[in-house]
Amino acid sequence: MAPIKLAIAGVGNCASSLLQGIEYYKPPVSADTAGLVHAELGGYRIQDIRPVAAFDVDRRKVGRPLEEAVFAPPNCTAVFQRELPHYGVTVQMGPVLDGVAAHMKDYPEDRAFRVADQPPCDVAKVLKASQADVLVCYMPVGSEDAVKHYARACLDAGVAMVNCIPVFIASHPEWAQEFRQKNLPVVGDDIKSQLGATIVHRTLARLMCDRGVRLDRTYQLNTGGNTDFLNMLEQSRLRSKRISKTESVQSQLDVPLDEGNIHIGPSDFVPWQKDNKVCFMRLEYRGFGDIPMNIEVRLSVEDSPNSAGMAIDCIRCAKLALDRGISGPLHEVSAFTMKHPPEQLRDTEARERLERWIAGR
Ligand SMILES: NC(=O)c1ccc[n+]([C@@H]2O[C@H](COP(=O)([O-])OP(=O)(O)OC[C@H]3O[C@@H](n4cnc5c(N)ncnc54)[C@H](O)[C@@H]3O)[C@@H](O)[C@H]2O)c1
Repeated sequence: MAPIKLAIAGVGNCASSLLQGIEYYKPPVSADTAGLVHAELGGYRIQDIRPVAAFDVDRRKVGRPLEEAVFAPPNCTAVFQRELPHYGVTVQMGPVLDGVAAHMKDYPEDRAFRVADQPPCDVAKVLKASQADVLVCYMPVGSEDAVKHYARACLDAGVAMVNCIPVFIASHPEWAQEFRQKNLPVVGDDIKSQLGATIVHRTLARLMCDRGVRLDRTYQLNTGGNTDFLNMLEQSRLRSKRISKTESVQSQLDVPLDEGNIHIGPSDFVPWQKDNKVCFMRLEYRGFGDIPMNIEVRLSVEDSPNSAGMAIDCIRCAKLALDRGISGPLHEVSAFTMKHPPEQLRDTEARERLERWIAGR
């Protein structure tokens, strides 16, 4: 197959795990290899993904070769593949816009963003020159303007988009229509980790409906020590994250909970946790005879590889759609891989529909 030329906006922890994974899974992999939903997807292997462009705004990343920038601070995710190839890609200065929260400057250098003193590049022009097929968007939560800037650049440059953050592009009818009109696929929004808090919470909520018990109240509290969690200390940046995470669980219930009975969101920044995210979940329910019962879950995951396990499929699906002339939001792909897709499905149905879509049926 032809290579999948990948552009990356935001060379943070998720980008680091993604690039490490592309290298890690280079040796032949089989259908039962740990960590992958699809060893091969529509004929594309993981090693077919080749980075051709990257954008960031941090002075420790901009101007550096991509294979070095992914290991630069404040990135702190687990390193499971130290050796990366020389991609021949230098990280370009993106437009900062609303990408960097003001409180970042109050935290130490090794934990927070530090903006480079450089003029921004013309993103669409760089994308065109790189001949990228797909751009994966890894902006910090709350970067409404920055995400829209990269989405616009994709439309101008003729590049498909995978939007991993809760700014609504694929799930926004006007943006969806723009991608359709330009014959470009878009996958989004807000990546749902391979096996993280969202999928566990959705599955338990659905299980309760299927077993005839009534969920009365639930919470999901999350802590982490990466820049994603540091960024999310700023409550004003969190609106769409809360919507995305809450709707994701509500969508699995036959009768959605009242707003006051469901609380889901990032809860605190614990620096020493680094990229380890810990989730505390509680579901209070009534079974036969209205007897109150509850389930408590504590989940501990490495956040960024957990998202890369899904991104690696989104990217290949976006390229498959380009090959097949499919444009606009990819419903089947987004329902399986994203928290806030244009159409929410039960997860088992999403998987079945995704497999049919990949097979071209
Ligand atoms: N499991 C997961 O890790 C997961 C799940 C769902 C969603 N997400 C979302 O994915 C996004 C990326 O997560 P991450 O952990 O890699 O975050 P991160 O903080 O490690 O990386 C963000 C990167 O974006 C850069 N940046 C900031 N403004 C920019 C701009 N205007 N242009 C270009 N680059 C800019 C920063 O310098 C940083 O390198 C976050 O929004 C996160 O919430 C992650």
